Amino acid sequence: MRFTLNGRKVDVRAHPMKRLLDVLREECALPGTKEGCGEGECGACTVLVDGAPVCACLVPFAQVSGASVKTIEGLRGDHPLQKAFVSEGGAQCGICTPGMILAATTLERGATRAEIQAALAGNLCRCTGYEAIYRAIEKSLRRPPAPVARKATRR
Ligand code: FES
Ligand code: FES
Repeated sequence: MRFTLNGRKVDVRAHPMKRLLDVLREECALPGTKEGCGEGECGACTVLVDGAPVCACLVPFAQVSGASVKTIEGLRGDHPLQKAFVSEGGAQCGICTPGMILAATTLERGATRAEIQAALAGNLCRCTGYEAIYRAIEKSLRRPPAPVARKATRR
């Protein structure tokens, strides 16, 4: 079946009812997408399908035919969210981290704490207590300070 995976057109053979989570990990050799609950409750398996976060454990492979799928591997390790998770201690065991980061990529720059919490409502973390995660996301989405207007000087 043809679809776009992390920006590249691919043709992957797998049973159409196989979970997208398993196709990504087994047929596509992309283990960054994690399995937590396996039943749509924890968000650990979050990937983006056509830009929207979905639980890959609930999506049959057939459903992404012709779609664009992005996994954590598609961010290549240097995304501002990934850097902020490292600097703020937003990851401990790391099972929830790829899903948290992908869900957070849907937020606008300057998102408030409430908007971040709403966007991540479906992503559970059993380790961090969430504070470091929210701090990391706030840091990566912070607006750069507005440039200070300079007064023209006359000579
Ligand atoms: S593993 Fe998919 S939601 Fe928990
Ligand atoms: S870091 Fe362990 S579940 Fe979030």
